[in-house]
Amino acid sequence: MNETKTCRDSFTVKTSIVLPPDTNTYGTLFGGKLMAYIDDVAAIAAMRHGRRNVVTASTDSVDFLHPVYEGNSVCLEAFVTYTGRTSMEIFVKVIAEDLLTGGRNVCAMSFLTMVAVDENGKPTPVPTVVPETEEEKSLYETAKERAEIRKRRRKDSEARAKTYGTGLPW
Ligand SMILES: CC(C)(COP(=O)(O)OP(=O)(O)OC[C@H]1O[C@@H](n2cnc3c(N)ncnc32)[C@H](O)[C@@H]1OP(=O)(O)O)[C@@H](O)C(=O)NCCC(=O)NCCS
Repeated sequence: MNETKTCRDSFTVKTSIVLPPDTNTYGTLFGGKLMAYIDDVAAIAAMRHGRRNVVTASTDSVDFLHPVYEGNSVCLEAFVTYTGRTSMEIFVKVIAEDLLTGGRNVCAMSFLTMVAVDENGKPTPVPTVVPETEEEKSLYETAKERAEIRKRRRKDSEARAKTYGTGLPW
């Protein structure tokens, strides 16, 4: 596929207010909820880039840098930073805002890899991403190194899956 797209073409923003059903017993946003938001926004960015269905192949570590309190808004920004043949790396930045004071924190960041799939669920090619801004270029230039780490991690996971197997009691 020779088509190209800019990072801006996939730029996606999702904002929510943190309400009690989504908080833990400390009144802060439940980590699993934030991870679901991260996966959601990354999938939308990937579909905007590829205009194909996508599946999450992997999520790099998510470090929760600051708590997000009930009543805060949580704003996620995502865009495609790098492309392989069928895979896309998506950068997600999460900003929490105290809506009463305007105080803002980057409370989490993550890189995800989404793979475009055809109607049979098989990986299918995506357009090449072209970075434009300094931030996009810096993320693009460091992406190959992250991809290598994921490749090694995937091999380790596959080996571990074989070792531990499915033979548990349930
Ligand atoms: C991701 C998936 C489609 C890959 O399919 P596959 O037949 O193994 O295909 P390949 O090995 O050719 O990999 C396809 C691409 O995905 C990338 N990829 C596969 N696994 C990856 C991983 N764990 N992390 C990062 N990239 C990965 C490959 O590097 C390759 O990229 P490229 O085409 O840009 O070079 C397949 O493993 C799958 O369906 N996994 C389950 C996905 C899912 O259900 N997600 C929701 C979680 S509940």
